[in-house]
Amino acid sequence: MKAKPARFVLLAAIVFVVIAILGACDSEPRKTDAELGLNAQQATGRRVYETRCADCHYAYSTHNLRGPSLNGLFKKPFMKNGMPANDERVSDIILLGRAKMPAFQQKLTQQQFDDLMAYLHTL
Ligand code: HEC
Repeated sequence: MKAKPARFVLLAAIVFVVIAILGACDSEPRKTDAELGLNAQQATGRRVYETRCADCHYAYSTHNLRGPSLNGLFKKPFMKNGMPANDERVSDIILLGRAKMPAFQQKLTQQQFDDLMAYLHTL
């Protein structure tokens, strides 16, 4: 039986939808700062996060990327690495680095760091 053009269109449409669904599973849907209810400092911290951290950490998906997901970072008593999830330990990891994670001490200003921490507390 010879395939009709209409079938190709239908098939192409199905393939497209499947790819779109699969793609959506792992990428983070982009919400606006307002939708997330971020204040000005948290929104600024989000920009820092997107520039410095998003390559390796998902903020809203619980999937791991190159590093563990930071979703709910401060909501749980312990981080994935077993350390207490408090400002002190999290700051150390960000500023000094850990295993394959680079240190950010020289790369962030105090203001950027404070904004970033404010944002992390919203996750
Ligand atoms: C090059 C990739 C990379 C970048 C960029 C990066 N990280 Fe990481 N991060 C990692 C890896 C890998 C780990 C796991 C380290 C380990 O083995 O304990 C990690 C661990 C962490 C942890 C501990 C999480 C847990 O639950 O154990 C925190 C918090 C964290 N990173 C925050 C950040 C923040 C904030 C930034 C941006 C300033 C950042 N990271 C940038 C790779 C990265």
